[in-house]
Amino acid sequence: MKNNNNNKFYVTTPIYYVNSKPHLGTLYSTLLADVTARWNKLCGKDVFFLTGTDEHGQKLQEAAQKVGMAPKEFVDSMIPFFKDVWKRYELEYDKFIRTTDPEHEKAVIYWLKKLQDKGDIYKSTYSGWYCIPCERYETESTVLKDDDGNYICPVCKRELKEHSEESYFFRLSAYENQLLDFYEKKPNFIIPKEKINEVISFVKSGLHDLSISRKKVKWGIPFPGDEEHTVYVWGDALNNYISAIGYGQDTPQAKKKFEHWWPANLHIMAKDILRFHAVYWPAFLMAAGLPLPKRMLVHGYILTDSGKMSKSLGNVVDPIILADWYGVEQVRYYLVRQMPITQDGHFSLKDLENRISGDLANNLGNLLNRTLSLALSNGLKEVNVPESFEADSLVLRDRCEEAFRSFWDEMDHCHYHIALSDLFNFISQVNAFFHEHQPWVVVKKDKVFFEEIISAVCHSLYAIAVMLWPIMPKKMEELLKCLGYRIDLYSNYEDELRKNIWNKKFVLNKTKEPLFVKPESRLEVEDTEKKEEKVEDNFISIDDFAKIQMHVGQILECDLVEGSDKLYKLIVDLGEVGKRQIMAGVAQFLKQEDLIGKKGVYVTNLKPRKMMGLMSQGMMLFAKDQKGNMQMVTVSGDIDNGTRLS
Ligand code: MSP
Repeated sequence: MKNNNNNKFYVTTPIYYVNSKPHLGTLYSTLLADVTARWNKLCGKDVFFLTGTDEHGQKLQEAAQKVGMAPKEFVDSMIPFFKDVWKRYELEYDKFIRTTDPEHEKAVIYWLKKLQDKGDIYKSTYSGWYCIPCERYETESTVLKDDDGNYICPVCKRELKEHSEESYFFRLSAYENQLLDFYEKKPNFIIPKEKINEVISFVKSGLHDLSISRKKVKWGIPFPGDEEHTVYVWGDALNNYISAIGYGQDTPQAKKKFEHWWPANLHIMAKDILRFHAVYWPAFLMAAGLPLPKRMLVHGYILTDSGKMSKSLGNVVDPIILADWYGVEQVRYYLVRQMPITQDGHFSLKDLENRISGDLANNLGNLLNRTLSLALSNGLKEVNVPESFEADSLVLRDRCEEAFRSFWDEMDHCHYHIALSDLFNFISQVNAFFHEHQPWVVVKKDKVFFEEIISAVCHSLYAIAVMLWPIMPKKMEELLKCLGYRIDLYSNYEDELRKNIWNKKFVLNKTKEPLFVKPESRLEVEDTEKKEEKVEDNFISIDDFAKIQMHVGQILECDLVEGSDKLYKLIVDLGEVGKRQIMAGVAQFLKQEDLIGKKGVYVTNLKPRKMMGLMSQGMMLFAKDQKGNMQMVTVSGDIDNGTRLS
């Protein structure tokens, strides 16, 4: 632990519920944290990476009951699944916190006592619409309704039950102004930036005090002063971020540790739990008189292909099977490169295989293989620094510098997929340089120039390997070894790569196996029956398409629905189809004046449904732009209202 607090980086993942095994989604969050941790280490920072598990609550109690185990026995039995997958994927966390750890329980009680002393906790009765699977109450303004008018959970879409019970409350409402003030001062608190507006409008719509205890749930931390109650989920879970680094412990070492690491530099999570992290958590910390975390990275969901894919190919999205099939680091690369970090991304085996073949085997792997083979077969093992570089090599050197600068910027903003996309463009440029200069011809007539070409490529490969190390550490260590180097953490590569001085000598070594090979395709399903099923899965017939009626329409009126900050009520002129009332949940992204008068595309034969009590007689089409904002799908003004799309 170095002493300089500015040079530290504390990154966290959500703590995962242990009632299901880790999957691609939870792997993704943890991988992003690992990449962040490694990247910061490369930049010379002192890093602490925390992950762990959320083990209390009704859901866990029920899951344990189902399998006839005591809750603690059950949660203990689930931990190896997480630790094994994280280990396999080289996720090098510094601590794995469990909410059943005694030091966590102690910290939660310490925190609650502080709040009690301050007068921020009181006892009352809570009644609301409760979702058992999600363990949370929904308010009238957040519930959804199904076709029969029953209240359903906005997250899991299951039916809500009405509940009334005695509970302890945290005075969340008292922190409204302080929170708004904080968001105003820290507009970059959340990545992506736009998400802060969602949070601000939630807080502005009025905060209710938060129920933080349960009488019904026995599997939890006993509430201080009233052991009939247990601490309710978020008051327990969120505190893991401080309990893991010594909060609430008496020893001087624990106090020192806490002061060193807190506040966290980055909390990583998907959008499902943004509100808890961006509203409740800062308020909890304000109440305890603690500094607030510096930033939050809110990523999208990984969506799997049409459910059938996993049906026909078994548990293909099991991270362990993917690692067996394709290699751990190939999957790491794919996840970071393919998923547009702040938006939802689609997982597909085809994309995964294409990325490995195209980016890793063809682009990067071949560049390394060709360079090494050509140099070594011509007796060039030690590549010296050329006396001077020719103009073309200098152009490549400039490109290498640009590549690093843009990689750095994107990594710094946590736009990891863009950083990789830019970097692979640079790898293509190095390949182009290699081909244009035809070193296999040059070697026959000009050994000096030959060595210069190889040196320029090696310098580029060196920078590439360092940049890719956080994503594919072992493979990049192998690559560096081929050039005669080793990764040296904490040596501040930022400085070195920014200066981009090409003054390295390389000692070349061939790998036993190529660094990356094209993967054997797993897309082929053995028997034709499955093949046919798969074809049907991926395509629809023209008759299927014809069932969906889409028409061009023009928005005549647009009003925000009372009590909602998202939903617009539109009156749309659909020509011969008539005028329709259509609801669209895009108020965060588009102003009324952006919509009124515009022509768009509408699905007109969807079964009408009620949204916030108002009937929607169709669906308007939108698409997300690169920043994650919804934009209207428009048509040119020459197309008449009511024209059917075909
Ligand atoms: N226990 C709470 C979190 C408490 S944090 C103080 C919880 N646990 S969870 O097991 O449901 O994990 C939710 C998190 O898992 C998401 O926020 C996200 O980080 C990750 N993901 C779960 N499914 C995912 C996808 N399909 N795609 C991307 N991330 C996913 O909520």
